Amino acid sequence: MSDAVPPAPASPEADIPSALGQRSIVLIGMMGVGKSTIGRRLAVRLRLPFVDADTEIEAAAGMTIPEIFERHGEPHFRDGEARVIARLLDGGPVVLATGGGAFMREETRARIAAKAISIWLKADPDVIMRRVRRRADRPLLQTPDPEGTVTRLLSEREPVYRNADLTISSRDVPHDRIVEECIEALHRHLGGPAASEPPQNLGSKDLASKDVASAAR
Ligand code: S3P
Repeated sequence: MSDAVPPAPASPEADIPSALGQRSIVLIGMMGVGKSTIGRRLAVRLRLPFVDADTEIEAAAGMTIPEIFERHGEPHFRDGEARVIARLLDGGPVVLATGGGAFMREETRARIAAKAISIWLKADPDVIMRRVRRRADRPLLQTPDPEGTVTRLLSEREPVYRNADLTISSRDVPHDRIVEECIEALHRHLGGPAASEPPQNLGSKDLASKDVASAAR
């Protein structure tokens, strides 16, 4: 009779960190889609540290984001943002929420592709508008027509956000539901129940990597 301990039942929460290794999970997407809120909860579920790139940029600069924009301008902010994200990815695995413009920089996209699995939290313009109206600390939206600005930014950014490994629809449902969908999509992307083994029968990268959670679910 063997006294071997039976293996623990597989659970996505346990499979995902072991399949990630040193790679991180990076949440990308427009302002107001819930990257920090979802990221924080996702990190708790996966028992990984959570880091917010905007908070880290503010700490590194000793200033708030509106102050950085006002005193030094957007290009300076973007350079700092790229440096901070590079440093945070080197310290993985973490769950990292990025600012809405971070993924627009090619160098940052390449780093994220090399060192992380990216999730685009995608929301409709009206959901974004409703959410960003609640806070006045986003310098890019301090314009006479914030709605027009959101529409323009979305049209510039969505084709780039689309390059994320996974896409999850962020909408007005309980946060835990979105977190659950992130976990399911990550688990599938990383190869399912035997996530620590190489994925099998994934005909093309796109099949595995472009999981879009249905808004109807
Ligand atoms: C920005 C989004 C902000 C912040 C900065 C610029 C953007 O982060 O990085 O105000 O370019 O979309 P959130 O997406 O967390 O609001």
